[in-house]
Amino acid sequence: MNRDRVLSGMQASGKLHLGNLVGALRNWVSLQDRYECYYFVADWHALTTGYANSCAIKESTKDLLINFIAAGLDPQKCTIFVQSMVPQHAELHLLLSMITPVGWLERVPTYKEKQEQLQDRDLSTYGFLGYPVLQTADIIIYRAKYVPVGIDQMPHLEISREIARRFNHLYGEVFPEPEGLLTKFPKVPGLDGRKMSKSYDNAVYLSDEPSVVEQKIRTMMTDPARKRRTDKGDPELSPVFHLHKIFSSHEEQQEITEGCKSAGIGCIDCKKILIKNLFAYLEPIWAKRAELNNKPEIISDIIAGGNKKAAHEAEQTLMLVRSAMGLG
Ligand code: TRP
Repeated sequence: MNRDRVLSGMQASGKLHLGNLVGALRNWVSLQDRYECYYFVADWHALTTGYANSCAIKESTKDLLINFIAAGLDPQKCTIFVQSMVPQHAELHLLLSMITPVGWLERVPTYKEKQEQLQDRDLSTYGFLGYPVLQTADIIIYRAKYVPVGIDQMPHLEISREIARRFNHLYGEVFPEPEGLLTKFPKVPGLDGRKMSKSYDNAVYLSDEPSVVEQKIRTMMTDPARKRRTDKGDPELSPVFHLHKIFSSHEEQQEITEGCKSAGIGCIDCKKILIKNLFAYLEPIWAKRAELNNKPEIISDIIAGGNKKAAHEAEQTLMLVRSAMGLG
């Protein structure tokens, strides 16, 4: 079967949260039946901003891998690997760095934004500037056609296309230009109503104990107009309702809408329904996580197989690259 190739990765900086699960990982799972998929943990990318605390990357990598499998990625259907275990990415990154103009990298919006956001770190490094070059190597080393990503990653993908084009122009056609597959999932609000993100400290993590998840939802922000049980509210103004839109049935959403507008239902009961549905959604993942935590060899076997397959594919491309450039 000749299916188009898909590749995507997640940076190993922190634990996986509900927003990553709904926004990205579930989409990866659905793509594995239709495409030849490569999914990986970008642990080197985590170094670009986290080099001073490099020891934390291993834990994040492990958490991501456990969640990949627990959420339904199936190693029989897709290739799952760790970036640093496929050193071919580094060789291609070096070669691409020779042809990538610095100006292109300085113009990527995330370059300045991240530097401003993370003022406590020195991000005036060569590696941080080269983030999109490494990401390009990750993608084109598999000659991937599609890259499922969120909208925030689109500027990186645009650079990847430009670098691939420049390579092909200089040395001959080796790389297809990768296309973004925009994920059309609802934005998952965090506990305070802003986008769920570890940097806002408003996230529900897949590694949270059920009691912690329950506590987080119980204390979550609601429509600020409903100070008392008898105050009428507007569900659209409550982040709790936006989570209902993702996790609750149509009928429940309707009941809650009416109940909130008429003060027929209180915020506590509304949250109880959300907790019930969220638990139903997360329970299979929690069960699988527990199993994987008890038997770490399951993950190591999966990754050993994935690393080997990825390295083989990556090496095929590198042979074309070396030959196109007249190296070796
Ligand atoms: N930049 C991506 C993120 O922040 C991670 C990533 C690294 C990636 N390499 C990639 C995503 C290649 C898609 C394709 O999560």
